Amino acid sequence: ALLSGCAKMTLAWADLKPAGPVAAPQALGTFAGDAAVTNSSDWEARKPALQKAFESEVYGVFPDASSTRILGKLVLNDNAFDGRGVLEEWTLSADATFNGRTVETKPFPGRDGFLLEVALPKEATGPVPIILMETFCPSWEVVPDPAVSRPSDAREMGGGPLGGVMTYVFGRYICTPPFEMILERGYGVAVLYPNSVPDQRDEGLAELRRLSAGYENDDTRWGAVAAWGWLFSRAVDALEQDPRIDANAIATWGHSRYGKAALVAAAWDPRIAAVIAHQSGTGGASLNREKKGESVSAITSAYPHWFAKSYAEIAGEEETMDVDQHLLIALIAPRPVLLGNARRDVWSDPNGAFRAALGADPVYELLGSDGLSQLRLDEWRPQAGIAFWLRPGTHGVVKEDWPAFLEFLDAHLGD
Ligand code: GCU
Repeated sequence: ALLSGCAKMTLAWADLKPAGPVAAPQALGTFAGDAAVTNSSDWEARKPALQKAFESEVYGVFPDASSTRILGKLVLNDNAFDGRGVLEEWTLSADATFNGRTVETKPFPGRDGFLLEVALPKEATGPVPIILMETFCPSWEVVPDPAVSRPSDAREMGGGPLGGVMTYVFGRYICTPPFEMILERGYGVAVLYPNSVPDQRDEGLAELRRLSAGYENDDTRWGAVAAWGWLFSRAVDALEQDPRIDANAIATWGHSRYGKAALVAAAWDPRIAAVIAHQSGTGGASLNREKKGESVSAITSAYPHWFAKSYAEIAGEEETMDVDQHLLIALIAPRPVLLGNARRDVWSDPNGAFRAALGADPVYELLGSDGLSQLRLDEWRPQAGIAFWLRPGTHGVVKEDWPAFLEFLDAHLGD
């Protein structure tokens, strides 16, 4: 499913035209009949209703309560990444409560919780900012250290011939980010393999249902994107307690489906200081209305476990929705967001993401950030509140991407 889905993106060859004078959607008009938003407290007051609307129309409903336990922290290698970092493996377990019924997350095979691999720069003199990532590849492939736990029936994605093809098609960094470069710039990296909520239709739906056993409405039961967003927050619960980590400088990172989750996490969790959502597309940064690329109907038929059923039901009638994706970005304001795009990745609709950024911009301004602060989609301004990264090429994480991601983080989380 991953390869066939992504192939659609890479095969789309049409070159991207600048968005031009297309009307940006309104973020500050009236919403569901409420009064106009004119100052930051009006906006704060409006956020819960917006989140509720996203839950009922797109992502499904989040738990009423959650908690996270740190079951263990193991040093795997105190001289990892060419001597630049310390690598640890943390075991976490989380509870989701819906309607008074509490269910625990599924553990990693053979362990008593799910795993978070944490790499911290060795030479740090104080608490470090950290990039918290969810990826397609399992963490034992993302982190190139033999000590990282792997199940006995481990499925390889990055290694072997399939790995070669993946890297060729989707770029050098599709599985493994440049740890040395990141650590050297003073950032930690935490890798959460989100597969405790499996990205397969039947297994995914079953696990989502198990975790939300107390929830009764099948139309608005949470989908995997919400649950992956929720898992990001459970990792934040653990990271923010470690004095080596700057709790005010935790950024979520995700590519494509996990880019959607990285945005969702920050839209619901104010502790997340910045977001890098690369090629997040439909259900992420790209608008649902008047769009090109992947439609709501296409995404909900191919991936029925990603969203609430209600999103599938609204397909074809997107103009009747209370929300659109510019409001998801607006929910993150004024915290910095990088929207990553590629010119030929038309499936994820960079124009739609740019218009969403334009639509969210007034909220950034209202909250005192410079927001998008640009009118052209091919202008790279890493210091903008909504930094729009558009490079040539297709869907993937390539050589130019990580330097741009780090420029953005330096501009916002650096000293
Ligand atoms: C598919 C899907 C996209 C998604 C992508 C990915 O192509 O249609 O919505 O972003 O997979 O996660 O790579």
